[in-house]
Amino acid sequence: MTDSLDVSAIRAQFPILAEKVWEKPLVYLDSAASAMKPRAVIDAMTDTMEHQYANVHRGLHWMSERTTEAYEAARESVRRLLNAADAREIVFTRNSTEAINLVAYSYGRGVLRPEQAVLISGMEHHSNIVPWQLLRTERGNELRVADVSESGEFDMESYARLLEDGRVGLVAVTHMSNVLGTVPPVERIIRLAHEHGAKVLLDGSQAVVHRHVDVQALGCDFYAVTGHKIYGPTGIGALYARRELLERMPPFLGGGEMIGEVSYEHTTWADVPHKFEAGTPAIIEAIGLGAAIEWFEGLDPQALAAHEAELTEHALSRLSQVKGLRVLGAAQDRGGVVSFTLKGAHAHDVATLLDRNGIAVRAGHHCAEPLLHRFGLESTARASFAAYTTREEIDSLADALERVREFFL
Ligand code: ALA
Repeated sequence: MTDSLDVSAIRAQFPILAEKVWEKPLVYLDSAASAMKPRAVIDAMTDTMEHQYANVHRGLHWMSERTTEAYEAARESVRRLLNAADAREIVFTRNSTEAINLVAYSYGRGVLRPEQAVLISGMEHHSNIVPWQLLRTERGNELRVADVSESGEFDMESYARLLEDGRVGLVAVTHMSNVLGTVPPVERIIRLAHEHGAKVLLDGSQAVVHRHVDVQALGCDFYAVTGHKIYGPTGIGALYARRELLERMPPFLGGGEMIGEVSYEHTTWADVPHKFEAGTPAIIEAIGLGAAIEWFEGLDPQALAAHEAELTEHALSRLSQVKGLRVLGAAQDRGGVVSFTLKGAHAHDVATLLDRNGIAVRAGHHCAEPLLHRFGLESTARASFAAYTTREEIDSLADALERVREFFL
């Protein structure tokens, strides 16, 4: 029997949740776009700036050494979060978009051969589409797309067909769709890719907040995460890559910190992961991310999973009672994201009217235009849940949607 999550105690740790919007209590249902920050993260960042800050890996003085330790401790926190074997397999980036771009530039241009294809799925976010299009334009690597079924599932048959000729060098798929909430069968996806000689990148931007991730058990080659969705600050994310791959990959950005020795004739690279971290990194943000991960690790994973499953089920049930409302996708395995349309109303108008009730949802194409086109849509409204979301907030959404519907009648 799992203890339930103490949501009131969690909420009390997020100062912003006490704010009012249009003089109404804030109902924040946009955590898939960016999560709010607990006091532990705010304090860790403030404390760094107030008490212990300098550049990292450079100074021999006390402040620099202590800040370097804190920065490297944050890397260790990311390693723990993903259960990577070695902290040297964790490269700090600005976000998951930059992590995927790092793979596209460095692995894509430096290791992948131009005749090898990249295979993505039809439910990818733009950050897992456009970097591969840029690679295709520059180097000619074909881009293949596996289908998404009408119910929003990853289509394994289409995927298997696209792998058959053995020409796919890299599979890059989301670990949880930011629009449908679908969690694709990543174990099977990885196994099949490896059987066909392809490496696998998982975009964990959404999944890492909702699932226990173990890159060793999964056996993936790359895993991209962003800090701001896991209750950390913006401007910091990470790429996990198997060490052997990082060693083979050429640098992404050049500059200080990523070098061994520099002369005008010849420059050598720092050891991994520093080879991929040019310039002064996002030190304060990395420390904030470390604090966010520690805070997140303090939540009981089973209670959190049960809480999110219960919220999602409740949302699907309440929204199904709103006439003219269509929920996008009905995947068996899904996380806390529900996208919907309301007959006769544009998603932007729905979101604006919800906002006047203090309810924040995202509206638009969610940076996944091809996926929305797959369902014959240009935009949807999307509610997404986090550890601090309550059942009552979902009730407020459903009640407000009834009023929005009446407004458009
Ligand atoms: N990827 C983020 C979202 O889904 C920005 O909203």
